[in-house]
Amino acid sequence: MIALPDIQSSNARITTSLSEGSVALFVGGTSGVGEITLKQFASHTKRPRIYFVGRSQEAGTRIATECKTMNPEGEYIFIPADASLIRVVDEVSRGAGGHEGQIDTTDLEARKASIPFYRGHITSMTTLALEHLAEQAPTVSFINVHPGIVKSGVLRETDNLRMWVVWIVLLLLGRWVYVPEAESAERHLFLLTSAMYPASHGEDAEVSVPEGMSVARGADGSRGSGVYSMLWTGESPDNAVQALAGLRAHGIGEVVWRYTESQFKRITGVESI
Ligand SMILES: NC(=O)c1ccc[n+]([C@@H]2O[C@H](COP(=O)([O-])OP(=O)(O)OC[C@H]3O[C@@H](n4cnc5c(N)ncnc54)[C@H](OP(=O)(O)O)[C@@H]3O)[C@@H](O)[C@H]2O)c1
Repeated sequence: MIALPDIQSSNARITTSLSEGSVALFVGGTSGVGEITLKQFASHTKRPRIYFVGRSQEAGTRIATECKTMNPEGEYIFIPADASLIRVVDEVSRGAGGHEGQIDTTDLEARKASIPFYRGHITSMTTLALEHLAEQAPTVSFINVHPGIVKSGVLRETDNLRMWVVWIVLLLLGRWVYVPEAESAERHLFLLTSAMYPASHGEDAEVSVPEGMSVARGADGSRGSGVYSMLWTGESPDNAVQALAGLRAHGIGEVVWRYTESQFKRITGVESI
């Protein structure tokens, strides 16, 4: 686990390491993990320009005002948008890094998957899709992270059995398992800004790797590969790396990408926007 003080000390160096006017986009920045990370970014950067997307105009206005108070020199631009047309995006986003498992290619939407299988399936699909994107954009770093269990608005729209189960469990046990919001925000800001998670090509102006640590192991098992699958602790578990290696060996990455493209085409009518 990367210790919180190391993360905080890295974040404290952001203002001196990143140039003024950093631009960030948060899709889903009006609640939960997105909101706290956005605010952490706003409070640690000089003259940031932050775009954030969500459906709630009320939350958008509130957050822009709060950020302006926190860092008056920044620009905070709310973009109201509903991504729900691409429903599968929402489903896919419920998987999260470090939990990769097998993929059922006969049921890519995991409609018939059991709860234990579901997470590994969805998480692997996300990471393999990120690997495909990283090939096209090798100067960009991609991170699929499980944020831990963070108190948020994620269960507001509970609409299926899986999420109801999660809702009940958290209601009963939440206070013992939640990652504190402040810690979660610090850890996500670290992922966004530290040179521990570089792109596969090109040099980014990032905060140098904390002393005594090294560049993170990527999802393919090699250090600094440009695609990272992480637990909230900042670790990349061996079994996730192994599961992905098995899937790649069977060409499942291609299957996932072809499926993703077919869904975009089915929904939007075009292959790319
Ligand atoms: N919290 C956890 O413990 C946890 C654990 C594992 C994984 N995750 C994953 O982490 C991500 C963030 O979760 P969270 O807990 O921060 O959830 P959250 O509090 O519900 O935040 C979700 C964000 O996404 C936006 N959003 C949702 N549907 C949208 C749509 N159709 N169009 C546009 N924006 C939309 C929401 O904004 P509006 O409401 O304004 O639209 C909000 O800003 C999710 O992918 C979740 O599955 C969370």
